[in-house]
Amino acid sequence: MPTFLMCPPDYYGIEYEINPWMDCRRPADTALAKKQWRALYDQLTTKLGATVELLMPVKGLPDLIFTANAGLVAGTKFIRSNFRFPQRRREIPVFETWFKERGYRILPLPPAACFEGEGDALPVGQTFFAGYRTRSDIQSHQTIGEILGCEVLSLELADPRFYHLDTCFCPLDDRTALYFPDAFDAYGRKVIETSVPEPIPVAPEDALRFGCNAIVVGTGVVLHAGCDELNRDLRRRGFTVHELDLSEFHKAGGSAKCLVLRLN
Ligand code: ARG
Repeated sequence: MPTFLMCPPDYYGIEYEINPWMDCRRPADTALAKKQWRALYDQLTTKLGATVELLMPVKGLPDLIFTANAGLVAGTKFIRSNFRFPQRRREIPVFETWFKERGYRILPLPPAACFEGEGDALPVGQTFFAGYRTRSDIQSHQTIGEILGCEVLSLELADPRFYHLDTCFCPLDDRTALYFPDAFDAYGRKVIETSVPEPIPVAPEDALRFGCNAIVVGTGVVLHAGCDELNRDLRRRGFTVHELDLSEFHKAGGSAKCLVLRLN
């Protein structure tokens, strides 16, 4: 069973614009965000049996809830993110302290190379797929591969709306991954289609609802509500789908997967 890191949305809000989804004139409903976050927490813990550890929210860090961007965990090593935007760079010491206090070895990357953690690096079997350009830099990928001791395949993210890999690519198990073809260039699509044993394309409507930003726990998939075609497809393949409305987090450019970081 997986263990995840989450951060309650006490100080969540749309306070700046660093991706095409964010619009300061379209604020998040704080009470509703708390309710939606709590439903996700309950879904993962009570209903799916995962363990969730918590990071204390910090005033002035509205995106801290997107723990997927903290870094990448490999055993007792924590590969710390280098955020692209200064607004999120302020989260680095908070994440670093949490991991340090729990005995993780902190591995910073060369400061010149941006890297946004699990948001841009996801494994299928023994291979990591890593997104670059919008947030992470390709220069970070080799270092990550050396630390993880595995192959890293770099995928250029071609559409600014799908700015992190986890918005358009979602491993389901050791052989299968969802992907939104139009988020990649022709070469990236080729890499996915030849390196993932069973790549499953997602339709534009479902991809734009962040259907690829799903959390997988065994054969259970936590999916944003309304991704009907994807939901049917997943059920046909033997997955149990749990739909949740995460509308308030869409306003910041995220959904279920961004709100968790895998710790084991
Ligand atoms: N507002 C946040 C940002 O733009 C959202 C992060 C979403 N995280 C993710 N892993 N896709 O950085």
